[in-house]
Amino acid sequence: MPLANGFLVPDHFSDEYFFELAPALCSGCGMVQLVEQPDPEKMFHGDYPFFSHSSRSMAQHFKAFADMVRRDWLTGDDPFVCEIGSNDGILLKHMAVAGIRHLGVEPSVNVAAAARTHGVNTLAAFFNRDVAQRIRHEHGAASAIMAANVMCHIPDLPSVAAGVEHLLAADGVFIFEDPYLGAVLEKTAYDQIYDEHVFLFSLASVMRAFEPFGLTLVDAEPQSTHGGSMRYVLARHGRRSPSARLETLLAHEAGLKLTDHATFAAFAERCRQSRDRLVALLGELKADGKRVVGYAATSKSTTVLNYCGITDDLLPFIVDTTPLKQGRFTPGSHIPVRHPAAFADPWPDYALLFAWNHEAEILAKEDAFTRSGGRWIRFVPKVELIEV
Ligand code: SAH
Ligand code: TMP
Repeated sequence: MPLANGFLVPDHFSDEYFFELAPALCSGCGMVQLVEQPDPEKMFHGDYPFFSHSSRSMAQHFKAFADMVRRDWLTGDDPFVCEIGSNDGILLKHMAVAGIRHLGVEPSVNVAAAARTHGVNTLAAFFNRDVAQRIRHEHGAASAIMAANVMCHIPDLPSVAAGVEHLLAADGVFIFEDPYLGAVLEKTAYDQIYDEHVFLFSLASVMRAFEPFGLTLVDAEPQSTHGGSMRYVLARHGRRSPSARLETLLAHEAGLKLTDHATFAAFAERCRQSRDRLVALLGELKADGKRVVGYAATSKSTTVLNYCGITDDLLPFIVDTTPLKQGRFTPGSHIPVRHPAAFADPWPDYALLFAWNHEAEILAKEDAFTRSGGRWIRFVPKVELIEV
């Protein structure tokens, strides 16, 4: 597989980076993780093309996240909060506006620069144990440490856990959310498996990963973002009691058999079927003379396109709102990415919705396509035409 966000120009087709994308289950601790992990510097740099602000619904989600942290966890005087993987400041800008002392830690310098334009204090660095020590020295302990869609990106989990433990105030909380393994399996969302997603967490694997660092899982809450995520709340041992909701979620998770190899063998079979159906559908539409265009060159689309072997003969281009992706080509499959204006010029017969996690937002926005007689194709949880 190529890097999910490695959008490139033809000059680099010949020296494109590929690695072996192989998820594995640790039968000891129940962690699902990639066997081979590309260097973080290869993925997160000054040309990183994912900007959190590209989705309106995610902007609303992070406003609610910030409001919840302020209401429930920032009770003391002059609290300090820190966010790992703060990207373009989509969450922390709400802390900045409220005058709360804050710091985002974000290694991709272009998105870090975008955050500063939103008034967000940002340290351009990879969060780890050493960086946490520097932050504590400079700003003091954090009442809340937050992270969204980034803990699963960091291969050196022990260093991050030790850093969090070092930085967290005695009664502080560490709140993070990531795509949930249970939802990936339930929806056959195999496109959540790509280079940046080193881990696919479950409640049990999070508990086991953080316990050795003195951090206990005290609450969790399912989220609808990214097609099914989990928010985890951790505190220092003995400082807070586990919630009743956590007990319920743990009981539910036990029923999912997430440490059982048979669960994953069945998932792999569903992935193969999904791939075969999508390729067959695109082939039939092409044979019928229909025009199909891709909608949103997401990170997840890199897995779909390369796993299914879809190239520009089945999908001539993909539209995406991110300026940095436009004019470039998709990793591995080399399909052109174009400005959204190309979508209506002229309307295609079908649109393959790669950003299926933003279905409601996109279908509402592209109402004119549907009214033109266009049809949407989704492939998660199964390959089908969307009934509008
Ligand atoms: N939190 C945002 C961004 C998620 S994308 C959101 O949910 O929309 C993941 C972000 O984490 C990227 O901006 C990437 O540059 C950053 N990142 C990757 N490794 C990191 C690390 N070790 N420490 C801090 N941020 C990291
Ligand atoms: P994500 O699925 O990882 O959040 O990536 C979202 C991608 O989808 C990003 O490249 C921007 C793109 N996008 C559009 O092109 N149009 C849209 O309306 C939305 C919501 C996202």
